[in-house]
Order: sequence, then structure tokens, then C-alpha cells
Amino acid sequence: MRLDKMLSNMGIGTRKEVKAMLKKKLVTVNDEIVNNGSKHVEPETDVVIVSGEKIVYEKYIYLMLYKPAGILSATRDHHTSTVVDLVDPYFQHFQPFPVGRLDKDTEGLLLLTNDGDLAHRLLSPKKNVEKTYFATIQGRVTEEDIQKFKTGVDIGENKLTKPAELVILRSGAISEIELTITEGKFHQVKRMFEAVGKKVTYLKRLRMGEISLDSVLQKGDYRRLNEEELAYCEQVKMA
Ligand code: URA
Repeated sequence: MRLDKMLSNMGIGTRKEVKAMLKKKLVTVNDEIVNNGSKHVEPETDVVIVSGEKIVYEKYIYLMLYKPAGILSATRDHHTSTVVDLVDPYFQHFQPFPVGRLDKDTEGLLLLTNDGDLAHRLLSPKKNVEKTYFATIQGRVTEEDIQKFKTGVDIGENKLTKPAELVILRSGAISEIELTITEGKFHQVKRMFEAVGKKVTYLKRLRMGEISLDSVLQKGDYRRLNEEELAYCEQVKMA
């Protein structure tokens, strides 16, 4: 890869700014000053330093975000703020996108990446990746609902929903539940409860596959995936 391309890809500056840095002799490759942006570098192995700082090349970024309600799960939008606006410009530079969508009023775990292959695999219905949600429900959730969700309910699609595991945390006029599904149809959780005559009043995603929302994150915060979570992503890609 050209040195100037590598540096601008890493968000060091525009091509023009990078050119000026090179001219000012601020860039070394393997300890040698380089002032020509066309120089070929191996981004993974060559040691590139700009103004004394080592540039660690990365192609893909993987973030977990605690999505707050009121924010759109989309890439950037001129009219309204999106989940991508919540991350630093450094990460935005990689043009990340959300892995699947949470409704505007849904909170919780959302992965952001620019790795299309991973996103595709995590979302593919064939892969049966589990997604667990916590929800508050208007109405009494019953054992019968557990059975119905296990066998599948009619949410107006061609087929019934795939078997889902419903756990009742609290049952009453207002109930609290956890639901694990392996599909991701539009408004799926809300439609499943509508199918049994109940209404979701609050929804939060807790888990996607082996990646759980980190309890130290506050709403709107994010962090890079850790090694274990990245290893799980690799596993999903290989499967
Ligand atoms: N199911 C829903 O109804 N909404 C979401 O945001 C996610 C799952």
C-alpha cells in the first residue's frame, strides 16, 4: 500500500495534509525519514511513525455500543442523529455500520463494524445466532405464552416464528421477561407479544451470540470488543 494512502486511511489527515507532514520530515518508516508518499509500505509489518507516534494499522474495527433510546440505528443521516454519531471521529473514519437494527425506542447492545462479512454472518438466519432481550410488557405474561413462543407464533410472515425461549422474571399487570430469539424480523419482539395480545413498553437487547452488553458501559458509551469477543467473531466467520 502507498504510504500516503495508509496514513490517510488511518485518519492521520487528508492526502494533502499527509503530503505536508511528509515534506516536513515528520514521518519515518523503519527508522528512516520518508518524504515521498508514493513509497510502498507493508501496513501490518513496517514500523511507521508520525511525529514520534507509532501508527498501528487496522483495517476493521469492532465496537460494542450501549444504544440509548431516541437514536437511529443507521449510518450517518443529515436529519437526525444516528448511532455512528456516538463514536469518535477516529472510528467514524472507518465508515462503521450497525450490525442489524434496533428500533429507535429500543436500547442496549449494538455492534458497530466495517467488517461486512462478519455482519452478514451474524445476521444470517441460517446461522441461528441468539439474541436475548429484556422487556417490560403491559399485561400478564403466562406459562401459555412460554409454550406459544416455543412452538412459534404468527406475526404475519409466511411462516411462524422460530422457537424462542421466554423467561418470566415478573408476572403481573406489568410483566418483565427475557426473550431469546434466533431471527431478526422487523419489530420481531414487539410483534411476537402483539401476537399473544400484549404490548412491549420497554425493550433492551442484552446479548448477541456470545457477546453480552458490558455492564460497565453507560447509555451512549461504547468500547472496542475484547480479545474473547473478537475470537468469537472469528469463529462465526469460520463456521
Ligand atoms: N425486536 C423489536 O421489536 N425491536 C427491536 O428493536 C429489536 C427486536
